[in-house]
Amino acid sequence: MKNNLQILLKEDQNKKFFDLVARYYDKGIVGNWLFSVIEKTINSVNIKKSSKILDVGTGTGNLIYLLEKQNKKLNLYGIDISKKMLTIARKKVKTAKFIKISVLLLEKEFPSKFFDYIFVIDAFHHFPYQKNVMNNFYNILKINGRLVITELDFGFIFNYFFHIIEPGNEWLYTKKELKNLFLVSGFLIEKQKKIGTFAVMTLGVKYKNSKSIENKHFRR
Ligand SMILES: C[S@@+](CC[C@H](N)C(=O)[O-])C[C@H]1O[C@@H](n2cnc3c(N)ncnc32)[C@H](O)[C@@H]1O
Repeated sequence: MKNNLQILLKEDQNKKFFDLVARYYDKGIVGNWLFSVIEKTINSVNIKKSSKILDVGTGTGNLIYLLEKQNKKLNLYGIDISKKMLTIARKKVKTAKFIKISVLLLEKEFPSKFFDYIFVIDAFHHFPYQKNVMNNFYNILKINGRLVITELDFGFIFNYFFHIIEPGNEWLYTKKELKNLFLVSGFLIEKQKKIGTFAVMTLGVKYKNSKSIENKHFRR
């Protein structure tokens, strides 16, 4: 069982790591690969005009950048703990609101039932208290709001290995584990599909009574 101090240290480790790599982040193979994962994620979601959208762990703001290019009427918000990643994001999209806060403080920053969509791309495995984070997502989403998480998935054994070797990795869910996490957190699964070789997109909907849904197969 981890204590709060260990969790805060891990969050600080993430912040320092992403501050360090921010200026290289959009360049090279990883940057290009992630950009195409983001494009494919956006193309898999039917986004309504004038929606309020939050990108959690927005990094250098690529998702927000692509959304803004597609539709100028969207209300776009991005949050991240890395100041340097956000500095790059702010230069890319002037009209979006980028806020430097931890995912743990979402409910302090935004009212309940505020967003139509929440996106999390390649960031969920860095977040502490992942089950509480899912509750926060649930609370700040409107009824019928969509939660879209695109994550790496190498299968259970390699995910575990990645968890051990990657600094700041809290836990990397398999496709099945993530589906169960959505269900026990009150989301109905609208879509789950592979986005490239090692990435999986899960799209859940917040229905009015979906908090009561139980999933007996939930493992973690
Ligand atoms: C691998 S990057 C992904 C960035 C972006 N979503 C993308 O796809 O390019 C993970 C991001 O999550 C952010 N992050 C990590 N832990 C966080 C936390 N506790 N709260 C908010 N953001 C966090 C990091 O600073 C980093 O920018």
